[in-house]
Amino acid sequence: MIAIGCDHGGYELKQEIKKYLTEAGYEFIDYGCDSMESCDYPEYAKKVANAIVEGKCEKGILICGTGIGISIAANKVKGIRAALCTDCFMAEATRLHNDANILAMGGRVVGPGLAIKIVETFLITAFSGDERHVRRIAQIED
Ligand code: RB5
Repeated sequence: MIAIGCDHGGYELKQEIKKYLTEAGYEFIDYGCDSMESCDYPEYAKKVANAIVEGKCEKGILICGTGIGISIAANKVKGIRAALCTDCFMAEATRLHNDANILAMGGRVVGPGLAIKIVETFLITAFSGDERHVRRIAQIED
């Protein structure tokens, strides 16, 4: 199960991503927001982050205007590793190396075509499990 959330700056891109997830057969829960009306991204970052740490969802996708605020907010939740990605290399590397559990993107930064490729890469790439990466992730949690 995938948790997805956004603020007004990410709303349009979230709609595109939901369409992709549905067509690709992924199950997801949309934690809002539900329109382009101005709202506060920490609220949606926390909802998606909590869904992951509580075990309701395995991975999350968060989108705000830049992807910055919403990733900063999500990373305040213990156990969350939210990675702001602007290309597929970053999405692949953060799964392989950081075992990132949330993908953050900027709706005002990446177009829908690239964003969907980033989502696809993030979702299909498994953590490498390499000892050095396991060790470094453990150090983040200390
Ligand atoms: C909202 O205007 C904007 O500040 C927000 O979407 C995000 O980019 C914050 O980091």
